[in-house]
Amino acid sequence: MSGMIKPVEWKETYVKVLDQTLLPEEVKFMEIRDAQVMWDAIKMLCVRGAPAIGVGAGYGVAIEMQKHVKESTTEYHKKLKETIEYLATSRPTAVNLFWALDRMKETGEKYADESNEVCQKALEETAINIEKYEENACISIGENALTLLKDGMTLLTHCNAGGLATVHYGTALSPMLLGKERNINFKVYADETRPLLQGARLTAWELNQAGVDVTVITDNMAGMVMKQGKIDAVIVGCDRVAANGDAANKIGTYSVAVLAKHHNIPFYIAGPVSTIDMNTPTGDDIPIEERSAEEITCGFGKRTVPEGVKVYNPAFDVVPHELITAIITDKGIIANPDKEKVAQVVNAK
Ligand code: MRU
Repeated sequence: MSGMIKPVEWKETYVKVLDQTLLPEEVKFMEIRDAQVMWDAIKMLCVRGAPAIGVGAGYGVAIEMQKHVKESTTEYHKKLKETIEYLATSRPTAVNLFWALDRMKETGEKYADESNEVCQKALEETAINIEKYEENACISIGENALTLLKDGMTLLTHCNAGGLATVHYGTALSPMLLGKERNINFKVYADETRPLLQGARLTAWELNQAGVDVTVITDNMAGMVMKQGKIDAVIVGCDRVAANGDAANKIGTYSVAVLAKHHNIPFYIAGPVSTIDMNTPTGDDIPIEERSAEEITCGFGKRTVPEGVKVYNPAFDVVPHELITAIITDKGIIANPDKEKVAQVVNAK
């Protein structure tokens, strides 16, 4: 796994970002040198997946602020505030974006009386630490998930919650990738994940590269493979977990959770504590991003919906906590999640 491609990488004078919109056909990197290009990269899903968006935003602030170090301290901090507010408008659902930007804001405030150079160094260190936190969280999530899963199981996943969406091992894919290194092998069914095919293009790409046995199905096949007894457990990532344990993830996750309940299959949500938002009381309070109609009408070039027909394109849905067997975090497993149990894990030292 050490050779795995990083979705976002700090290069001191620029941020190297893998353009995930081009996968699996092309492995191409962008060199990002300002906040506006990072905003576009997040919005257009060149960098995507909740933790990776947070990492990208942290580096987006750091790289933008390099350009303002020679300005007055007042100007520098004004620009810092504007940059943080601007990047926060890129996507609304994944809370890691706001979590990371809050860390950057706190650092800016802490070093407000220091020179711009000192503050800049601290901002860059904070962004690097956000990446380190997410990387370690992925390993802990994998370790915790492996205590719930058995060698030889067949797992179903939706969207992409692997190294491309995070740092290194991923969240939902961490037990598969970490397991592979330890000769614990899983078979994986990857929902293709309409409309942007993160499952087919990204999950299948990274699991295949790691030598994990992966089979792509279209989203509407999940019920059938469950009924056929092919699936032992479902494991997916999350973009925001509300204080009561309701979890937002890629559109279609809710349907998978309902299907899993019907077929008595454990349904696991995997995510770092940075994805739990104690300020969002329930799933109903999670802002759901709506994306352009073109993603559905002509997603990959060919028009598949007649001109002039209305389209509804929410990018995420919410799984109510009653349907979640456990939330697997870096700080522990929250079985049968509810408000109290979520708070216990979040507040644990
Ligand atoms: O729109 P995307 O591709 O950013 O959506 C990503 C997901 O929904 C992932 O499942 C989620 O961010 C978890 S990533 C560890």
